[in-house]
Amino acid sequence: MSTHGRSLAAVVEDAAKTLADAGMWAPREDAERLVAHAVAGRAGARLPGDLPVSDEAFARLGELLARRAAHEPVEYLTGRAVLGGVEVAVGPGVFIPRKHTEPLLAWGLEVLREVAEPTAVDLCTGSAAIALAVAHARPTASVHAVELDPTALRWARRNADRQATQGDTPIVLHTADVTDPALLRDLDGSVDLLLANPPFVVEGTVLPPEWQEHQPWPALFSGADGLVVIRAVVAAAARLLRPGGGVAIEHDDEQAEPVMALLRAQGVFTGIGYGVDHWDTPRYTTARRK
Ligand SMILES: C[S@@+](CC[C@H](N)C(=O)[O-])C[C@H]1O[C@@H](n2cnc3c(N)ncnc32)[C@H](O)[C@@H]1O
Repeated sequence: MSTHGRSLAAVVEDAAKTLADAGMWAPREDAERLVAHAVAGRAGARLPGDLPVSDEAFARLGELLARRAAHEPVEYLTGRAVLGGVEVAVGPGVFIPRKHTEPLLAWGLEVLREVAEPTAVDLCTGSAAIALAVAHARPTASVHAVELDPTALRWARRNADRQATQGDTPIVLHTADVTDPALLRDLDGSVDLLLANPPFVVEGTVLPPEWQEHQPWPALFSGADGLVVIRAVVAAAARLLRPGGGVAIEHDDEQAEPVMALLRAQGVFTGIGYGVDHWDTPRYTTARRK
């Protein structure tokens, strides 16, 4: 192995500057993950700052920085994302799980705390990140995950198989449309927790290139008011949840009011409210089935 003669800390510093100059919004965080990926093959690796960086790793990093500067999401470059402490594989064709979803997941796990053998449902599962995080935290849970898009489903299957191999309770993946009024009807009235991070962007909105150009549109856009799939999620929650069961639905920072109104209109929910993400922004709406 030939070495480039520079320390990891210096390489991170330069990479962060390159990404800042290219207009990235989190240049240092991106640089740390891409350097770790180039050097150790793991974006989350903790490496000493004085580690010498090989010429090969330096060349790999150059390619990654060029792709990131062209707005490819970091997670597609490293092939991984983490939610609830569970790592999932991601790549083109599947939505990248976001840190914004952690509080929704935490709320859901709290709902399940008193239930010995809960049934949980994750609608619009994408990579299956939410479902797998629930299964990881609650090994006695039966977790059902629903996805429509065939590419997303392939990522979900790959992640579900990997977690099961590592000892987690397998989840049940369903190929289905969340807007189907008969969705998961065998579970009617029996579900303890329903979580969903559905598409919620108003059709026609122009998003930053990390989403607009790189992530699958069915994961993002949801009709003229952004609420088409959310309406179906609310209807499914009213039907699937047992009395006392909880629902949490992710949305954008201006949709808490409309989503709470949709839940109120069902007439079967109580304790309707919303939660915030790590930016203190309204991010998910919750309710309990009467
Ligand atoms: C915002 S992504 C969320 C993925 C995952 N839950 C997460 O948090 O990373 C929304 C997902 O919903 C799926 N989806 C969109 N419309 C759907 C529908 N009608 N039925 C089932 N899945 C749908 C998309 O393919 C996409 O994978």
